[in-house]
Amino acid sequence: MSSRKIEIAQIQLTYPARARSAPVEALAGVSCTVAAGELVSIVGPSGCGKTSLLRILAGLEHATDGSFRIHTSDLQRPTVSMVFQQAGLFPWLTVEQNVAYGLQMRGLAKAQRLDIAQHWLRAMGLERFRTAYPAQLSGGMQQRVGLARAFAYNGEVLLMDEPFGALDAQTRLELQQVLLEQYEQADQTVLIVTHSIEEALTLSDRVLIMSARPGRILAEVAVPFARPRDAIALRSDPAFSALVADIWGVLRSEVERARTAELTAA
Ligand SMILES: Nc1ncnc2c1ncn2[C@@H]1O[C@H](COP(=O)(O)OP(=O)(O)OP(=O)(O)O)[C@@H](O)[C@H]1O
Ligand SMILES: [Mg+2]
Repeated sequence: MSSRKIEIAQIQLTYPARARSAPVEALAGVSCTVAAGELVSIVGPSGCGKTSLLRILAGLEHATDGSFRIHTSDLQRPTVSMVFQQAGLFPWLTVEQNVAYGLQMRGLAKAQRLDIAQHWLRAMGLERFRTAYPAQLSGGMQQRVGLARAFAYNGEVLLMDEPFGALDAQTRLELQQVLLEQYEQADQTVLIVTHSIEEALTLSDRVLIMSARPGRILAEVAVPFARPRDAIALRSDPAFSALVADIWGVLRSEVERARTAELTAA
């Protein structure tokens, strides 16, 4: 049995009231665990608190109640790398400097930083753009740089918030395949938020379905497809379409339930 890497216990989050707005209850007791080396996706209605949950795990936000633990096993590695929907690159640094930036923060020597950055730029097909600035790249390529940066940083846990959400369908599939290949050969635990049920099923071992706000885990679906996976071939598997329909069913009835509750409360 594999060991637990992330343990989340009854996380509750209420954003405090501001000048003209009431407090927002974003998360209502989220509990789940992720095993070491597992890739888990989170899907859920817009505004249900997915980003908030990842921000709590990354230490960027404090839970109002509940707790979480990330078990570390390698003192040489940082605990968490994070990839956001927008690549969030520093516009004044070159592609290579962006990828190497986190390594400097980790205190690695310059030669080592450049070695690692070059390895990941090669792996992402970005070598030719080493000295380019982010503004000179397309959105898809900027997102590749964001992935290269996260892989180079090599956190034991990789948190991804809709990393491919802003990309066209073809680039999205390409980068899903890049992530699959990287994940299948690396020792990393991954938690990814996505709006795409297909993407969740393509990438993950398990899909967690969240309720409408305030978010909690409604259901969990185990994904049976063997690895290594092919992002495109999977889509013609009838078991794939059946699972997409199952998850859609859960999400649709949840959105309807939330809408009825809102109308009743109004
Ligand atoms: N800093 C904040 N202050 C107040 N409310 C916030 C803040 N950040 C998020 N919220 C609210 O908390 C709720 C959850 O937001 P969050 O961004 O976590 O949802 P999400 O599931 O990631 O949504 P989406 O799918 O649209 O990205 C929303 O109602 C949002 O408006
Ligand atoms: Mg979000």
